[in-house]
Parts: sequence; C-alpha cells; structure tokens
Amino acid sequence: MQDLSLHILDIVENSIASKASQVAIRITEDPEEDQMILEIEDDGVGIPPELVERVVDPFFTTRTTRKVGLGLSLLQQAARLCEGDLHVRSTQGEGTLVRASFRYHHIDRKPLGDIPSTLVALIVGNPSVDLQYVHCKAGKTFCVDTAQFKRELEGIPIDHPQAIRLIREETRRGLEELGYLFA
Ligand SMILES: Nc1ncnc2c1ncn2[C@@H]1O[C@H](COP(=O)(O)OP(=O)(O)OP(=O)(O)O)[C@@H](O)[C@H]1O
Ligand SMILES: [Mg+2]
Repeated sequence: MQDLSLHILDIVENSIASKASQVAIRITEDPEEDQMILEIEDDGVGIPPELVERVVDPFFTTRTTRKVGLGLSLLQQAARLCEGDLHVRSTQGEGTLVRASFRYHHIDRKPLGDIPSTLVALIVGNPSVDLQYVHCKAGKTFCVDTAQFKRELEGIPIDHPQAIRLIREETRRGLEELGYLFA
C-alpha cells in the first residue's frame, strides 16, 4: 500500500465488519517531537481478550472467504519500518482502538494520500455509519463529522451526490489549511 489513506480504508473496513456504528479516525502530526500517530477507534463488537494479541498475525482472520488477514499486519509493518509500532486495545461489547505510530521524519514514512477520496468512499459505502475524522498538525486541528453533516443536511441523504461533493470540498479545504496539496 502506497499511502496511509489506503491503510485507513482497510482498518475502517475492519470496524465496519465488526458492526460499528461510530468510527473515529484521528491523525496527530508532531514534527517537533518527530512523531505521527494514527488512531482508529470504533464501537463495534470488539475482540475477545484471548485473541487480541493475535489479530496482527497475518495468519489470523475471522474471515471465512480466505485464510489470511493482512490489514493489521501490513499497517504494523509500515509503522515498524519507520521505527514506530502498532497496538490494538479492545473491549468486547464496547469497541476497538487501533493505534499506529511512526517517526515523523523517517524516510520510509508513507505519505498521507488522498484522504478526501478515502472519506467519500467510506461514506458512500456505509452511509449509516457515523464517521469522524480529526487531524491535528502543529497546533491546528481539522475535523469532519458525518453526524454533524447529517443534522445540517436536514433529511438529504449523506450519500447524495451534492452532500458528497460538499464533504469532499470541505475535507480538501481543511487539509489544505494544514499544508496538504491535492491535484
Ligand atoms: N476493529 C475490529 N473489531 C473487531 N475485530 C477486529 C477489528 N479489527 C480486526 N479485527 C479482527 O482481527 C482479524 C484480523 O484483521 P485484519 O485486518 O488483519 O485481517 P482481515 O480483516 O481478517 O482480512 P483483510 O484485512 O486482509 O481483508 C479480523 O479478521 C477480525 O477478526
Ligand atoms: Mg481487515
């Protein structure tokens, strides 16, 4: 996977498979401390305590369609390549937190990627899930909250093309303010 946004797509798919109704994606960039943190937290069914150590193992999956589960192990690999790591904390019946850390200035740290498209893909694919994206960088914070959008849209579906365009533009604008550029 070339960039973090693709990992995010993958890890949020785990949350959705675990029947989450709320998923938070948090990115914190701290260039001064040479650290970047990615957290994905959900309110899904959680992972039994005896399995939580094993979920990053590529040969552990509860999928029935194939015998390998690569999402978490690939993100762990990406984090470790940058002298960071990945941790999973989960409580059955409450939800799961996946936390990946990276050395910010590490040469192998993957770029953020196309977050606007990632969020749009997640929203279109899962309109009933409430998604929150919070990105902090050098003292500035940008947040997208689909629950808030839903209230403001007053009955227009969140996956309506116009709503999607609005979310895409707002995300883009917010990230540009944090210094990202999009084609
Ligand atoms: N947020 C989550 N909530 C509950 N269980 C999870 C969560 N994330 C991962 N798991 C468990 O960990 C297993 C491994 O996840 P991982 O993403 O590495 O692989 P996968 O989802 O099984 O397959 P792939 O990601 O390759 O499609 C899952 O099959 C699931 O049982
Ligand atoms: Mg997965």
